[in-house]
Amino acid sequence: MPRVTMKDVAFAAGVSITTVSHVINKTRRVRQATRERVEEAMHALGYQPSSVARSLRMGVTKTIGLILPDVSNPFFAEISRQIEDFGYQQGYSVILCNSDNNLQKQHEYVNTLLAKQVDGIIFISAGESLEDLSRLSASGIPVVVADRDVPLHLADVVMLDNEKAGYKAAQHLISLGHRHIACITGPSHLSPSMLRVAGYQRALQQAGIKYPPETIVRGDFRISGGEQAMRKLLNLMPAPTAVFALNDMMALGAISALRSAGLRVPQDVSVVGFDDIMIAALVDPPLTTISQPIKEIAEWATNMLIEKMHVRDADCENRRIVLDAELIVRQSTQQMDTHHE
Ligand code: RIB
Repeated sequence: MPRVTMKDVAFAAGVSITTVSHVINKTRRVRQATRERVEEAMHALGYQPSSVARSLRMGVTKTIGLILPDVSNPFFAEISRQIEDFGYQQGYSVILCNSDNNLQKQHEYVNTLLAKQVDGIIFISAGESLEDLSRLSASGIPVVVADRDVPLHLADVVMLDNEKAGYKAAQHLISLGHRHIACITGPSHLSPSMLRVAGYQRALQQAGIKYPPETIVRGDFRISGGEQAMRKLLNLMPAPTAVFALNDMMALGAISALRSAGLRVPQDVSVVGFDDIMIAALVDPPLTTISQPIKEIAEWATNMLIEKMHVRDADCENRRIVLDAELIVRQSTQQMDTHHE
């Protein structure tokens, strides 16, 4: 006879797993009618709360698991530092796991975090598979996903309006008079990258600017990927006078490749990045970029997770928080130099 789970009780009572958890652990006020439905379902199914599930709900470990692709990328370093600070302020330690966007590695880390009985997990820009999220949702452990959109029944979500941000970056280059524009994307299977490209394409379409497929080159969110992609773009005829790289690391790689080709930034080619990592303002030339509200993303993710672990109203659903990014104009872009026409 398979063990009756919290999910079975939730289905029978017509409530969320979180509500069942709050009824069992009394971690949140639940309307009497709802509580009675849950208790009736538990009795009818013969449900026995597991001791591990109870310890998870009571936050006995005061630890949060944080899974992200690669902390050597300053964006992830900065956001993980913010999450650790917000968690520490509320008495939590953070266990950091680098997945390298590798689903097998991510799967192993999820198993490790469950074995360590963390109280909740934050995923940042996790791979596109929902397998691990579904498993965690069924187990009742609180999860928040940042920097990616997932179905709301699986987790709370805090994300950027990436399509609008990509549009802003391209619109900036168009407003400077550029017509031969190129784009260096991130790993194309990741939704933030696909949405930024969609916004970029929307801006060019609206301006009546063509974007042949060869002007959009795949990168990997690393400096070397930006260099390789820029070298490909320099073989195009006509060569681009402006490039939008979908993160600052690739923008820096692109600038390095332009310099190696004897080209100046922005006099010969304008470059826009994305993230506004701390060094973006310090490099030469200071980078024009899209600024992600890193601290705000981290604060939302941490607070939604802690609230979900302890105080979330029993009957409320997961939330999707969508934040705006702003264009920060520095010295890596300039008006199209007409003598280049
Ligand atoms: O620099 C890493 C990129 O991956 C960032 O733009 C972040 O949004 C993530 O998608």
